[in-house]
Amino acid sequence: MGRLVLGGQPVTLRAAPHGNRGALAFVARANGRHYFNPTLVARAGDPVRIVLANGMDEPTIAHWHGLTIDTANDGNGDVLVAPGSTFDYAFTVRNRAGLYWYHPHPHGATAAQAYRGLFGLLAVEDDEERALRRALQIAPGDAEIPLVLHDRRGAAPLRYSPSDEDVLHGWYGDEILVNSTPRPFLDVTTRRYRFRVLNASNARIFRLGFGRDNGTAMPFLLIGTDGGLLEEPLATSELFLAPAERADLLVNFTGLPVGGLVHLESRAFDPMHAEVQPRRDGESDAAPGKGHTHAAPSSGGAAGGSDGGAFAMLQFRIRGRAERQPPLPARLSAPVALPLTGGDDRPLRLSFAKGRWRINDRVYDMNTTPIVVARATVETWLIRNYHSSMPHAMHLHGFQFRVVERETSPDQLSPLVVDARGRLATDLGWKDTVLVWPGESVRIAIDFSHPFAGDQIYLFHCHNLEHEDGGMMLRVKVA
Ligand code: C2O
Ligand code: CU
Ligand code: CU
Repeated sequence: MGRLVLGGQPVTLRAAPHGNRGALAFVARANGRHYFNPTLVARAGDPVRIVLANGMDEPTIAHWHGLTIDTANDGNGDVLVAPGSTFDYAFTVRNRAGLYWYHPHPHGATAAQAYRGLFGLLAVEDDEERALRRALQIAPGDAEIPLVLHDRRGAAPLRYSPSDEDVLHGWYGDEILVNSTPRPFLDVTTRRYRFRVLNASNARIFRLGFGRDNGTAMPFLLIGTDGGLLEEPLATSELFLAPAERADLLVNFTGLPVGGLVHLESRAFDPMHAEVQPRRDGESDAAPGKGHTHAAPSSGGAAGGSDGGAFAMLQFRIRGRAERQPPLPARLSAPVALPLTGGDDRPLRLSFAKGRWRINDRVYDMNTTPIVVARATVETWLIRNYHSSMPHAMHLHGFQFRVVERETSPDQLSPLVVDARGRLATDLGWKDTVLVWPGESVRIAIDFSHPFAGDQIYLFHCHNLEHEDGGMMLRVKVA
């Protein structure tokens, strides 16, 4: 990883094989060293110039997940970079501070390339971000640490060869990596740490929490979501993190005994893979009552082949005492109100038919644009997931949105609900990806204002990468 401060300077990212075990990485050369999947650091308002060089033997393109960006720079897969060729990105960082990321987006091959490790973080910084670091006396690389979670199947070499079952539910690994390392540990002192977590898995959902060695759960603070800092810190003891979602956390080890252990863990949950099994004749349709639910593996250490198991991911070893911690600021960021128009909801139904996951009964077609939105309007989208379905992590390119309401959520979300609209702590900030559970309706509000000349095309899709590659994706025109 390593932080590569862009500072307006052009950088070449070369997508290339990494090592001899089938892994891929974005490689940059800067400041006299090599960076593999660098964390690109930019200030809000900075111009960015990146050359993507394809050093692989298949086409690719990089997408800037979470950024407010024009279609030409979005990397949505309409334009691909052939092996040996390059693509020039030139854009301005228009987002507030937050942890964004970049990953490949060649339709049909996104899952394979991402699974092999081709992705990195993009940290945007601004005045609010700097004020927070000053107030907490934390610095990146010191008490502020990014944690990129993803899973891997079997031992190296990395082979991506999904079965019908994997295409249906997603590709789950049996080993969890944190910052590319299996079962890592981190020496900490009795102070406050900021962990900025990305779920970079193809399909796995984490039910994240911190557990002490005496078996008790350790509460923590949620301070930010996909699109940056919350207005104020929210105390919680766990949260769900779906593929592509980010969570900015403060964990305070003050008061714990030196020599003690804390684990970042994923707790057992019902993965609700409740759709029908694919039939051999390929004629599988979602049918209520015919679903099956996987029992959550009871735990241990292994993640198991499917979702919902309990396991520890990262061990914190408390190695020393730290000084008294500065007080937490009550406000993290200035509130931003989203002007609701009171117009009709745009309905989006997530379903499964004829062997494929669909949005409004459609699958992706690069020549069809089923959603057309008028520029500068605020729309509310009502995303409804069938009962006989599975959770889908719905992502919109180009815009950060707000979660307005959750209805008919599954029971396992009840302990996490924080307000009368059924929302969770993770719903209270800016989002670009929202997890929609079976049977659930999630209403989101999106301001389609953008500063770009002409019509722009974006994508709305499930970030379970097997579902995305399978066509659970629609084009959105903002005209
Ligand atoms: Cu992170 Cu179209 O995706
Ligand atoms: Cu995206
Ligand atoms: Cu999905």
